[in-house]
Amino acid sequence: MQFHRFRSLFHFSPPRFASSRITLAALLTVSFAAAQEPPAPPPRPAGAKPSAPAKPSFLISRPVPAAEMAERGQKLYVAQCGFCHGTNATGGTQGPDLVRSVIALRDDNGELIGPVIRKGVPDKGVPPFASMTDVQIREIAAFLRSRQQAAINRGQYKIQNVVTGDAAQGQAFFARNCAGCHSPAGDLKGIAARLDPVALQARFLYPVTRTFGRGPAVPAGKPTMVTVTAGTRVLKGRLEYVDSFSVSLRDEHGDYHSFALDVPNPPKVDIQDPLAGHEALLPKYTDADMHNVLTYLVTLK
Ligand code: HEC
Ligand code: HEC
Repeated sequence: MQFHRFRSLFHFSPPRFASSRITLAALLTVSFAAAQEPPAPPPRPAGAKPSAPAKPSFLISRPVPAAEMAERGQKLYVAQCGFCHGTNATGGTQGPDLVRSVIALRDDNGELIGPVIRKGVPDKGVPPFASMTDVQIREIAAFLRSRQQAAINRGQYKIQNVVTGDAAQGQAFFARNCAGCHSPAGDLKGIAARLDPVALQARFLYPVTRTFGRGPAVPAGKPTMVTVTAGTRVLKGRLEYVDSFSVSLRDEHGDYHSFALDVPNPPKVDIQDPLAGHEALLPKYTDADMHNVLTYLVTLK
């Protein structure tokens, strides 16, 4: 899990995605162009062979990867990349849409996305995943390819059923891990009526998308609080901004306070992130837990 790193990424200015995002119309054009481009794509390595004859695609000539491979890629992707690029790869406030990314569309077995993943984009706050293996990168590429196909075949393509767990076990997991902060009859009442299963899964895994350059996430209902201890002075309030140079907060009277942190004996800063509980859970879920919890949440209509 790379989550500890994200906090230090907040100093970067917002990345510009416009250039890497293209419209569906452009997607069609690009893919048509790609499909007509000789030579044909190289043969896939043994592990990447589709298990069933690949559905022909009018838009991308590359075959749809084997479902098992895309699934392995999905697991890696959700754990390592979904936080920024969105659980379904359609983009988040921290990372561009990868379903419509030109790089991802032109990629075959990870040869184009591999270098981006391994090197990261340090000046834009994208961490390098230097130790990612070729196999893992091919699996992620397969997952992205499957998402592209899903976008293309919208309507015919069945979104993988994510509600495959055991509701009773999910409820038990909820009682142990979630009930301290949530209640099925309170704040989560009717959540499944508001969100479809895929959105609900994304929401419980990553309740809010953090924004670059604006300090920690600020969930709608529960602000991030901070305690600053400067010598004998202790101030508590709603966190307004933090980076390695300064921290600022608004106290209960609405007064604004700012402290420099790049000084000798800097003040002590204690951030109470309301989503810390969620981040702490992420590395603990097994696949079964995730499916069980979702299957339980889906009953909260
Ligand atoms: C901290 C957030 C973050 C994480 C984690 C992250 N990315 Fe990114 N990624 C970005 C941002 C921001 C960009 C855009 C960089 C730019 O503008 O050059 C990007 C760009 C990319 C691109 C190039 C897209 C294009 O069309 O230019 C690919 C491919 C990509 N990421 C894949 C991944 C994969 C796969 C993972 C997981 C192994 C991952 N990223 C993890 C934030 C992230
Ligand atoms: C330490 C407290 C804490 C724990 C533990 C916790 N959450 Fe949360 N959760 C939050 C906070 C805070 C939010 C953001 C609420 C807001 O936006 O005001 C949130 C948001 C959510 C949301 C989105 C709610 C919405 O209306 O959009 C869901 C769903 C959710 N949590 C499910 C879970 C599940 C399932 C678990 C256990 C597996 C869990 N949470 C564990 C604190 C917690």
